[in-house]
Amino acid sequence: MSKLSIRGASKIFQGGTTAVDDVSLEVADGELVCLLGPSGSGKSTLLRMVGGFEQPTSGMIAIDGQDVTRLPPEQRPTGMVFQSHALWSHMNVFANLAFGLKLRRRPAGEIRDRVEAVLELVGLKGYDRRMTNELSGGQQQRVALARSLILEPKILLLDEPFASLDQHLRERLREEVRDIQLRLKITTLFVTHGQDEALSMADRIVVMRNGRTEQADRPEVIYRDPQTPFVAGFIGTMNFIEGRVEDGRFKHADVAVDLPVEDGPITLAVRPEALDLLPSAVGQATVHRVTDFGSHGLVDLHLSDGTRVKSLVRSPKPFKTGQTVDLSPRAFAAFRDNSKIYRTADVH
Ligand SMILES: Nc1ncnc2c1ncn2[C@@H]1O[C@H](COP(=O)(O)OP(=O)(O)O)[C@@H](O)[C@H]1O
Ligand SMILES: [Mg+2]
Repeated sequence: MSKLSIRGASKIFQGGTTAVDDVSLEVADGELVCLLGPSGSGKSTLLRMVGGFEQPTSGMIAIDGQDVTRLPPEQRPTGMVFQSHALWSHMNVFANLAFGLKLRRRPAGEIRDRVEAVLELVGLKGYDRRMTNELSGGQQQRVALARSLILEPKILLLDEPFASLDQHLRERLREEVRDIQLRLKITTLFVTHGQDEALSMADRIVVMRNGRTEQADRPEVIYRDPQTPFVAGFIGTMNFIEGRVEDGRFKHADVAVDLPVEDGPITLAVRPEALDLLPSAVGQATVHRVTDFGSHGLVDLHLSDGTRVKSLVRSPKPFKTGQTVDLSPRAFAAFRDNSKIYRTADVH
């Protein structure tokens, strides 16, 4: 039963880069939280502060109520898995896994049992005598995960552990890691810049930007109800159409829709699956490209002001490059001054 609390954590590196800027986050017992954001948004620095590999400039980190802010990594109840596995290539799998337990002076019988159990957990039963450089990339990452888990950390920290693997393997490993995490009920903080990874694994996603939390919520809320244009544009595909509201109606040369907010400039955000197209001789939006994905089609459009949008259609057949169409947003959100001021009942 372990809970992680990060309170007002900041990190300013020498030279003045603010990598993490006043982040607070509570991770509940057994919860898996993904830190998601573009490269340079401070994800790794935040994770490394939890693991003890960086000292916060200000703020505090507590595990189960105990302040660990000033403790070195080896005195924290955390286990970290890095992007590049950093296994000892001159040792076999058993030696890699036994190392931490030997340091803790556990008896040989116990070490053997625990190595065997953890290898079974990560799907590498019987691999104990293999040299690590004889393993595939995916197997090496499994050993790296096992090396963290064998010490039974209260908090598991993963920093883009699958980044160097190919797409298929990445998808399989993230399912395996999620299964293991759920089985062990281990409180986990997971860094990724891949939205699919975050959406498929996380109980909660923290979207980071410029060292700050942009939004923290369950995956479906992040997707369906983004609070800022950044989150809206970062997760999934989003069409942004700039226009004005006049007398309760959004107006743009090619799109008009009722929008009950104060008059003024506004950004309409519409998912491709919520943007309906009607073939029209008078429409000004022009079909630029039609892609047939078999199960659905994707229509790329150019609006008269140069804006590019995408519409997901059931069948691409009625649409041809060069033809004009009318746009009808079925559901949308509206942003003004960087925050959401309106959203239809569902964004789909
Ligand atoms: N040791 C360091 N010294 C100076 N700047 C750093 C250091 N580590 C990271 N940074 C900077 O801090 C910012 C956040 O980096 P990082 O936490 O690695 O982001 P992310 O993991 O989201 O890609 C970046 O601007 C990066 O260049
Ligand atoms: Mg990183």
